[in-house]
Amino acid sequence: MRRSVRQEPGIDTVVAGRLEVTHGHADELQSRSAGHGQMLGIGLERANDLTSNRPCAQHGDAEALAVHPDETTMAGTRGIVPERPGPPERLSPPLHSPTMTVELAPAPAPAEAAVQRPRIFSGIQPSGIVHLGNDLGAIRNYVALQWEYEAIYCIVDYHALTSTHDAGQLRQRTTEMAASLLALGLDPEQCTLFVQSHRPEHTELAWLLSTVTPVSWLERTPTYKEKRQSQPDDVNHGLLAYPVLQAADIVIYKGSLVPVGKDQAAHLELSREIVRAFNKRYGPTFPEPQAVFTEAPVVLGTDGVKKMSKSLGNTIDILGEPALIRRQVVSMVTDTKRILRTDPGRPEVCNVCQLHRFFGDDYDEIWDGERTARTGCVDTKKLLADRIIQHYAPARERYMDLMAHPDRVTAILEAGAERLRPRAAETMADVRQRMGLR
Ligand code: AMP
Ligand code: TRP
Repeated sequence: MRRSVRQEPGIDTVVAGRLEVTHGHADELQSRSAGHGQMLGIGLERANDLTSNRPCAQHGDAEALAVHPDETTMAGTRGIVPERPGPPERLSPPLHSPTMTVELAPAPAPAEAAVQRPRIFSGIQPSGIVHLGNDLGAIRNYVALQWEYEAIYCIVDYHALTSTHDAGQLRQRTTEMAASLLALGLDPEQCTLFVQSHRPEHTELAWLLSTVTPVSWLERTPTYKEKRQSQPDDVNHGLLAYPVLQAADIVIYKGSLVPVGKDQAAHLELSREIVRAFNKRYGPTFPEPQAVFTEAPVVLGTDGVKKMSKSLGNTIDILGEPALIRRQVVSMVTDTKRILRTDPGRPEVCNVCQLHRFFGDDYDEIWDGERTARTGCVDTKKLLADRIIQHYAPARERYMDLMAHPDRVTAILEAGAERLRPRAAETMADVRQRMGLR
C-alpha cells in the first residue's frame, strides 16, 4: 500500500546527513522507509553513517564547512538523502510494501495509485553550466526522486530573462541545461522535463497569484535585494515578481515537494505564503509546497567561503573538460591555518576534505591523513580532482553525445511540455472560475 507523503508524520527534516524524528514515530519511520522503497531506505542508512562521521556538524563549525549542515528544523522543509543517482532495481512503483508479508497476497496496485503519487516539481535556470553545487545540492535529488514520485522538472527560461538578455545565448543555454540534466540521469520515461516558456500558462497564473501577494513580501526577498546590488542598472520588474512566477511554476501542477538547494528556502517559504493567501481568499485550491534538501544543501565554492555559484566564478564545472576540472579543484582554498606541509590539517573546516565525503567511502582515511599531516593538501586535491573527473566521465560522454544531436533534446522537451498541457489547462480553468474570470 502506498501512502501519500502528506499522510506521513514523523519526519520533519533530514539535512546534512542527520535525521530528525520530531514526534518520536520510530516505527512509522521504519515502515515508511521500507514502504517507499530503496531511495528512502538508503537515505536513512546514509544519514546514520554520516552522523557518526560528522564532527563538524557536532561542533557547530557550520560557517567553515564546504557543505553546510543546517541544524534547524525549518517549517515546510522535508529532507531526503539520496545515494548517487541510479535506477532502483525495480523500475515501476512497488505493488506492496516490503514490510508486508508476501503470503498476505499483495493486491495489485489500483490503477489510480500511480496518479496519486505525490508530485515533485523543481525548476533550474539555464545558466550555461552545471556545477558541483547544482548536482550535490539539487540534481541528485531530482534523479533519485523520479523513481518514486511523479516528477516534473522545468528549465526556467522566463526567470532567466530577468538577467540574460541575449536571445541566442538563452536558446543555447536552454539546450545545454536540458542535455546536462539528461546526461546526469533524468530519464524522460520516468519524469517530465520541459521548458517553462513552452507552457505559457505559467505566466497567466503568475499574474493571478500576484494579486494575492503583497509587494512588501517581494521586496524583502533576499535574492531581490542581492540582485539590486549585483545588477543595479537593470532592476527590472521581473526581478521583483520572480518568486510569484516560481510559485506559479510549482502550483500549476499541484506540486507538493520541491527538491532545491538551501539558497531557495526563502523562495519556497514565499511560495507557501502565496498559496495560503490564495487558498484563504478563493478556497482550498493548491497544496503548500515543501522544500526537499539533500545532505549537501549548501556547497561552498573553490574559494572555500561563498556558496558555489556561476556568478561568483568559484565553480567546479562537473561536465567540463578534465583539465578544467583539475584546474578548478587544484585552485581550491583548503584549511587556511595549515601553512606548513607538516602542520596538522582540520578536515572539518577544509572544503576539499568535505567534498571527499561525496566521492568515496574512504573519506575517514583521507581526513585522518590530513589530521596527522601524513598527506598534504595538494595530494588530497589531486585525488579529489581524479575522483570527480572519473565520477562524471560517463555523464560527460552522454552530454557530448546529446549536444551533438540537439534534435533529440528538443524532442524530449517538446514532448514534456505537451504532456503537461492538460494539467495546466485543468488548473487554469479551475482558478479562472474561482476568481470570477469565466
Ligand atoms: P540555479 O543554477 O541557481 O538555478 O540552481 C539550481 C539548483 O541548484 C537550485 O535548486 C539551487 O538551490 C541549487 N544550487 C545552486 N547552487 C548551489 C550550491 N552552491 N549548493 C547547493 N545547492 C545549490
Ligand atoms: N529560483 C530557482 C533557482 O534559481 C529556479 C526556479 C524557478 C524554481 N521556478 C522554480 C525552483 C520552481 C523550484 C521550483 O534555482
